[in-house]
Amino acid sequence: MPKIISGTKMHICERVNYFLFVSILLLLWLCLNAQAPATQMQAGGIADPRLDARVESLLRKMTLEEKIGQLVQYSAGQQTGPGTGRTDYEDMIAKGQIGALFNISTAKETNAYQHIAVEKSRLHIPLVFGLDVIHGFRTEFPIPLGLASTWDPALVENAARIAAQEASATGIRWTFSPMVDIARDARWGRITEGAGEDPFLGSEMAAAYVRGYQGQRLDAPDSIAACAKHYVGYGAAEGGRDYNSTEISEHTLRQFYLPPFHAAVNAGAATIMSAFNTINGVPASANPFTLTQVLRKEWGFRGVVDSDYGSVGELVAHGIANDDATAARKGLLAGVDMDMASSLYHDHLADLVKSGQVPQAHLDEAVRRVLRVKFALGLFEHPYADEARESGAMLHPDSIELARTAAERSFVLLKNSPGPSNAPLLPLSNAVRDIALIGPLADDPANMLGSWGGLGRAEEVISLRAALAKRIGEQHVIYAKGAGIRDAADEDLNAAVAAAGKADLAILALGEDAGWMTGEAASRTNLGLPGRQQELLEKVVAAGKPVVLILFSGRPLTLPWAFEHVPAVLEAWYPGIQAGTALVRTLFGDSGPSGKLVVSWPRVVGQEPLYYNALSTGRPADKYDLTRPPQNSDEKYVSRYIDEVNSPQFPFGYGLSYTTFGYGPVSVSSKQLSAATLNKGLNANTPALTAEAEICNCTFVCEEPAWLSRYAR
Ligand code: BGC
Repeated sequence: MPKIISGTKMHICERVNYFLFVSILLLLWLCLNAQAPATQMQAGGIADPRLDARVESLLRKMTLEEKIGQLVQYSAGQQTGPGTGRTDYEDMIAKGQIGALFNISTAKETNAYQHIAVEKSRLHIPLVFGLDVIHGFRTEFPIPLGLASTWDPALVENAARIAAQEASATGIRWTFSPMVDIARDARWGRITEGAGEDPFLGSEMAAAYVRGYQGQRLDAPDSIAACAKHYVGYGAAEGGRDYNSTEISEHTLRQFYLPPFHAAVNAGAATIMSAFNTINGVPASANPFTLTQVLRKEWGFRGVVDSDYGSVGELVAHGIANDDATAARKGLLAGVDMDMASSLYHDHLADLVKSGQVPQAHLDEAVRRVLRVKFALGLFEHPYADEARESGAMLHPDSIELARTAAERSFVLLKNSPGPSNAPLLPLSNAVRDIALIGPLADDPANMLGSWGGLGRAEEVISLRAALAKRIGEQHVIYAKGAGIRDAADEDLNAAVAAAGKADLAILALGEDAGWMTGEAASRTNLGLPGRQQELLEKVVAAGKPVVLILFSGRPLTLPWAFEHVPAVLEAWYPGIQAGTALVRTLFGDSGPSGKLVVSWPRVVGQEPLYYNALSTGRPADKYDLTRPPQNSDEKYVSRYIDEVNSPQFPFGYGLSYTTFGYGPVSVSSKQLSAATLNKGLNANTPALTAEAEICNCTFVCEEPAWLSRYAR
């Protein structure tokens, strides 16, 4: 008969044995779980065990000041946040007081600083140079939200590889990308930088970027270290207001916000950036639960945690540190290894260690991580950029070709109603003669680069106007700007209407100003067209010619009038350097739009946050007609708005193409088919396109919503 072990009846020896057994199991579990992911351990990864001896040997030689220096990082170029007032970097580097610099971007500049580190500092430890290489370096691809709309991780991986090849040629061996924050609220400007609202797709994209940046081996000269950011929950900023607090239950954190970071770690990401926000009252850059328990103990991450810009210093403003020294102590002890830009580690860690407030062992561990990444990158062997390789590495024809393909696949066709010939307005017929091209974004190369345009240059962008003129002839493009993005004069509006009157068709290029209205510190409460663009749109439509509206934006825009009155609407995001070429090819049907939304598109701002994988409420409203105000108490006391429907304008996954699909009952005509029979409609030039999705419904805390678990392009 099996022995039943019950707490009170167990013999003392049995209890000890049982305790030992459980402890061993627990230890085993912890060890297994804390082990670094295989990608980090493999040759060329950040946790390659062969690096350890080198790290230890160097660490033993370092003074306290030199150790702290490895944890200090400053911007030596354009500021992307508040400055510290310091500029004495050369002197500090020579003293071993700086481990990393960012925001410089030419081989000449990186080499100049590197010479000081390698030749003048006592231990000759190289610097690592970082930059926000977000969706390309010189060859700019579509913004990340657009790249994610391709649903094509292989393409994203290739784009990241090209970015790495270009950036590394200037000595940049570290990018602050991918941004893997789940975002459910289009008011938040940084929704533009990520892969949208879904954790599964977000994880696929996160891993793809990491693979692309880091390549097969980190020490290959054209590989750069990735940095998954902003850890964690940053996208849940209350009210969509940037830097704002977040309240996220552990369940929601683990189910939605953490998975893309975990995917990045599993793909071998060398670094993680700790975010600005608080999570349930605790700042992400001083949060031992997320930074140490989850990241280190559960996931086994052995790379570097870098703070976001000044986020260690901001612990004082958050109110969890009375002074700068306490902020430095809390940041480091929670698990932030490197201090980006606040200078507090430089200013206070030495005293904190000497007084015992920060254990020496804790400091050493942070330094080990930084050194490990530097060894893994091969910086000790090859500290300098090859200035001769720099210019030749940029803008290869293949890279430009990929930028075009990526742009074409990122466009989401939102509406395509019949035009004059009763066929859908798009694609345009080659017989169209004169086109009125109207709007502030029709000839605005700089905006095509998005809010983190890297080193992309406006003069290398093909604008919509240039590409259209090339396609149909300059004389057939009747261009009228019509309005600025944020303002307009009456005469310009009138000139645009007159232009539409002279043409067969009008193309309007409207949207947001990428630099000002999208990205960091660009939250909006109004998601309509800025300035007088809505007025421009309505006036041009009233001119009576068929209208194609192309939207350039870093987020969904609430444009109910346009979706009702404009026959064709294409969301183009910010497409990168090949914007115009890709758009014109799409307009004329050389390429069919295949992008699908990765965010739920709201009808009105009041619906935000809006996302498809929301829990069911106890009072679902789906039985009722929500297009009218509630008529009785059954219709009223359900989870709804009294003045708007619950559903989005366009749901997650939405996107039209130039064809239609019929669905019907499924039957199997034959149980076996040869490949030749199956492929008979394809020839060598027709890419096989499969569409496949699996929606699963898993039970966890309570009934989970149906959500994406597999798909194929
Ligand atoms: C942003 C980060 C960026 C960093 C460095 C911060 O303000 O939040 O995303 O990587 O600046 O430029």
